[in-house]
Amino acid sequence: MSPAARLALFCGMALAVAMPLSAGLASWRGVTNPTQAHIDYMLKCQGCHQPNGAGNAANTPPLTNEVARFLLVPGGREFLGRVPGVASTDLDDARLAELLNWTLYRFDGAHVPADFRPYTAAEIGALRKAPLRLERLETRNRLIAQMEPHPKQ
Ligand code: HEC
Repeated sequence: MSPAARLALFCGMALAVAMPLSAGLASWRGVTNPTQAHIDYMLKCQGCHQPNGAGNAANTPPLTNEVARFLLVPGGREFLGRVPGVASTDLDDARLAELLNWTLYRFDGAHVPADFRPYTAAEIGALRKAPLRLERLETRNRLIAQMEPHPKQ
């Protein structure tokens, strides 16, 4: 086989391996480095929210099948960037924006709206300057009250 043919074969194989992965992640908007986002989730979030996003009935709400529903009600997008676990985490704005986008797709992709605009570093930077404090529970309850109920199982 000529070197050119060998190169073509190699590239074809590399593409075949890479394609399914990139096709799946292409729909994860605003997540350029999912591996980094996953690591950041493990280090900064899963102690409370659990590796599988299930949370903890005693003190931490589940992300799984829930978190992106906030994007569907007015004020929910801002809430997600201002909730203390997000706003006060020890990551820069760009890494945090990626992590929040990743969290939405990873745990609740089905509720991410088709026209979702991913969080940017600038938006997260502005939101986290006004973190929610004690009023967060009332805000959260008000948002949840506006959500469509989950369909009956
Ligand atoms: C110390 C525990 C803790 C840590 C660490 C934590 N969270 Fe949370 N998170 C909570 C609690 C509790 C709530 C519910 C709102 C509140 O009371 O702050 C919440 C709410 C949220 C929400 C809003 C959804 C909802 O149902 O309220 C998102 C999104 C979220 N967390 C993502 C993250 C991400 C991403 C990280 C890591 C950067 C993180 N959290 C770290 C405890 C935590």
